[in-house]
Amino acid sequence: MDKNTIEIENTLDIRDMSIDDFAEVFHLGEQLFTSEYSSSMYRTWDEYEITTLYNSDSDLCLVADLDDEIVGFVLATTVDKTNSAWKYGYLVWIGVRPGIQKKGIGDSLFNEIKKRMVEQGVRMIIIDTDADNEAGIRFFNKHGFGNTQKHVYMTLNLAKKTMGRKSRK
Ligand SMILES: CC(C)(COP(=O)(O)OP(=O)(O)OC[C@H]1O[C@@H](n2cnc3c(N)ncnc32)[C@H](O)[C@@H]1OP(=O)(O)O)[C@@H](O)C(=O)NCCC(=O)NCCS
Repeated sequence: MDKNTIEIENTLDIRDMSIDDFAEVFHLGEQLFTSEYSSSMYRTWDEYEITTLYNSDSDLCLVADLDDEIVGFVLATTVDKTNSAWKYGYLVWIGVRPGIQKKGIGDSLFNEIKKRMVEQGVRMIIIDTDADNEAGIRFFNKHGFGNTQKHVYMTLNLAKKTMGRKSRK
């Protein structure tokens, strides 16, 4: 453990997100979840992500507070599937401020959300992220995630004119 990690651990507080934190969390998410971060548009970062997840389960919306500044957050919810007795935890967003990553803040956020999910009776946690998010995938692998399943996203551009093909009579 290096000196930086020790200093952060001493002052880092993983706590419930409050309504007053929404703006700070939103702006931090804007820095992290840019269009370069995710080329697919199936899930984009916007203010509704925060309010919807907070309304669904505020116990699973946490921030990492370092000297009264939010340097990370995790937003999650639980899912009950029909025909399954299991309760699933869905970790939707986790992020740590650029420049202060790789110092154990993500680990602290994840450990606390996992503890809370266990308390809620969650049997399995699910996550999704872009296939080229190497840091994210390494992070989840370190925490024991596996059983990677590939999913294909496709688009059809309806604004594009159909060219070069005569219509059939
Ligand atoms: C993923 C993320 C939350 C990790 O937070 P973090 O505070 O940097 O993570 P930690 O310092 O606790 O690192 C924990 C482990 O994650 C892995 N990891 C984190 N950053 C990494 C990087 N840049 N490259 C490779 N592995 C990395 C390592 O296995 C690390 O363990 P180690 O230090 O013992 O090797 C952070 O990188 C982030 O905000 N990324 C952008 C948003 C994102 O991709 N979120 C996930 C999908 S929602």
